[in-house]
Amino acid sequence: MITPVLLAGGSGTRLWPLSRRSYPKQFAELTGPKTLFQATAERLSGEGFAPPVVLTQSDFRFIATEQLADTGIDPGAVMLEPEGRNTAPAILAAALWVAQKAGEQALMLVAPSDHVIADSDAFWHAIAAAEPAARAGRLVTFGITPDRAETGYGYLEPGREADAQGVMPLVRFIEKPDVAQACAMYESGDYLWNAGVFLFSAGAILDAARTHAPTVLAVVEKAFAAACADLGFLRLDPEAWSDSPDISIDYAIMERAETVSVMPVQAGWSDLGDWEAVRRANPGTRPDGVTLSGPATAIDCRDSLLRSEDPRIEMVGIGLEDVIAVAMPDAVLVAHRSRAQDVKAAVSALKARN
Ligand code: GDD
Ligand code: MG
Repeated sequence: MITPVLLAGGSGTRLWPLSRRSYPKQFAELTGPKTLFQATAERLSGEGFAPPVVLTQSDFRFIATEQLADTGIDPGAVMLEPEGRNTAPAILAAALWVAQKAGEQALMLVAPSDHVIADSDAFWHAIAAAEPAARAGRLVTFGITPDRAETGYGYLEPGREADAQGVMPLVRFIEKPDVAQACAMYESGDYLWNAGVFLFSAGAILDAARTHAPTVLAVVEKAFAAACADLGFLRLDPEAWSDSPDISIDYAIMERAETVSVMPVQAGWSDLGDWEAVRRANPGTRPDGVTLSGPATAIDCRDSLLRSEDPRIEMVGIGLEDVIAVAMPDAVLVAHRSRAQDVKAAVSALKARN
């Protein structure tokens, strides 16, 4: 059995104004009737999967459990991080839980809850193929063939020799390269993107943390030992947790460990990190590159996203090219498509002003 570990604590600021501090993108219906969190939980349920461990913050605990209940999935645990300290401490807390519950050999599949995976069968196939490597103590990453020089992802340089299942040892992991590095890696054709999904045993990731991130592990062990059960939630101890560095698993462990492997996967993966990614991933995108959502109309527009989240707000675009327009009852975003990443900075500026 593999325990899915669903990461649902991010704030998704690049999808403002739909994604809010009180209601981040993983809980919103971005591309269909299911939220990304629900789709992730369903994809990792059923045969071969144990009940999932959900990691999120206190503010989102009821949204997460209600959305899970809607899918009929019973969680193994819902762990609450006192504050978001990024993915390294969250994943290590889950590893301690899995080790305690099912032993150090037990496998966990870490899954961000803000991705779209169009082909679940291909994804399950890759997980099954990666299982023997993970059982042998490898930290398995999943590699996506890049289609552009993206700077927001991790890059994987696989070694040449694949095992019988197609899993390769990793030569190098480069998290969030600068533009020049990303262009060079993309053009070389030698690199894959890190999907942000990981398969390993609880013991293997804890061992790697002992070597490469001992400070984070020590804090998490303390917060886990002092955690308290509260109405079905497991609250990590706030005092211990406040000492944790804010660091992702990619920087803390994956860039440094020698036991990382990569399993290539082609499963229609997309990280809905910003509005441009949402436009690209939307199955309803028209041949002219326009995606409409809610009461929105496009006349002579190209490569644009027009989205009204309020039935009372009729949105009309005329002659637009490369525009992102998103209307909420209390906020409107209008941006050039090439500036989708900058929404994060705009949100920080708004926060500073309010
Ligand atoms: N529980 C919890 N707590 N979840 C978190 C936290 C936290 O403090 N911070 C982030 N997450 C969740 C996010 O909601 C998301 O589902 C996932 O962890 C990854 O975090 P992101 O902040 O979205 O990471 P990223 O997109 O910049 O980079 C990661 O994903 C890329 C692919 O999407 C890295 O793993 C990259 O290497 C990778 O290419
Ligand atoms: Mg992401």
